[in-house]
Amino acid sequence: METLENKSSKKSSSHEGYVLVTGGAGYIGSHTVLELLICGYNVVVVDNLSNACEESLIRVQTLAGRPLKFYHANILDEQTLIPIFEKYNIWAVLHFAALKAVGESTKIPLDYYWNNVTGSLNLFRVMERFGAYNIVFSSSATVYGQPDIIPVNEKCSLGPVTNPYGKTKLFIEEAIRDMCAANNKWNAILLRYFNPTGAHPSGVIGENPRGIPNNLMPYVSQVVQGRFPFVKIFGGDYDTVDGTGVRDYIHVCDLATGHVAALRKLKTKPGCVAYNLGTGVGYSVLEIIKAMSRACGKEIPYQITKRRPGDIAVVTADARLANAELGWYPKYGLDQMCQDLWRWIDSNPLGYPESSNEAKQILQQMSA
Ligand code: UFG
Repeated sequence: METLENKSSKKSSSHEGYVLVTGGAGYIGSHTVLELLICGYNVVVVDNLSNACEESLIRVQTLAGRPLKFYHANILDEQTLIPIFEKYNIWAVLHFAALKAVGESTKIPLDYYWNNVTGSLNLFRVMERFGAYNIVFSSSATVYGQPDIIPVNEKCSLGPVTNPYGKTKLFIEEAIRDMCAANNKWNAILLRYFNPTGAHPSGVIGENPRGIPNNLMPYVSQVVQGRFPFVKIFGGDYDTVDGTGVRDYIHVCDLATGHVAALRKLKTKPGCVAYNLGTGVGYSVLEIIKAMSRACGKEIPYQITKRRPGDIAVVTADARLANAELGWYPKYGLDQMCQDLWRWIDSNPLGYPESSNEAKQILQQMSA
């Protein structure tokens, strides 16, 4: 039988060294790992699987037709990171690993600071020790707090951020800026995501549902699946097109290409630069529900309830800096985001399955 290792000789790497992807089994991480493999990068993934599943990586390998390396490890644990840096010639790190639920972060802030901030600092220290000075950090539009202007650009002031999740993103950005200022060997790209959604057009990888979703798109998806009776729209009295909140939704595959563009930029030794990754186009909650309804061909019930504390009326991105300096442009519009999301949910209603014995064998090969 032809193994993936054999196949890989046909589709070989066009890049020297390895890119380490922390949190690479998760939603944005897995789509980015796929894009990296397709673009010829060698990839090592580290993930503690706290909110992810190895099956995503098995599917990524199959879609890409190239192997990747995977270690079930925690970025908080220096002793597991060190052997990985010893074994692979890691020239850059894409750092996704983090806890990411805004609401949860207000209930267990210590876990958020420990995982996100301490975990990142630990990772950066190991990177420094091994001379791996290139990083792409998964930041968020949340660092702008209540933005000065809409669409928000990278020169807008940062913070104040009101929830622990958002504060961890801002603290890590600040730490990276200080590291770059102190040592010009460091190069960092901070990617501020707006509202990621969608799934790979194949319907083979996507966001794995766990618990009650906080974000709009996963919640709408679960209403379509009949797990909840209706979407609660948080506020119908905002100063927007129809009174509901407006956000800049971006296809997860566009985010993935943004990371590859950022990696290319790191080769030019840019120092520390932040880029917004959004489409620049805002859609209201009602527009999202209608688009999802078109995609799945079903009515989606909703009720307008009171505003969610901390929400603001409109957040959209000015992404012209990423367009100009990274040569990155999002390709997908709202209908495609919804169609791809629906394809993933419809073909994987329970998300990823438990790993089969065959899958476990593939995983063993990944970390051999
Ligand atoms: N909304 C609803 N009902 C829901 C969920 C959300 O009406 O069940 C509304 C919100 O009020 C908001 C919009 O849908 O108007 C989007 O809400 P999300 O929770 O999906 O996303 P947010 O814009 O609040 O937050 C997202 C990410 C954060 C990130 C932030 C940056 O989830 O991690 O964008 O702007 F920090």
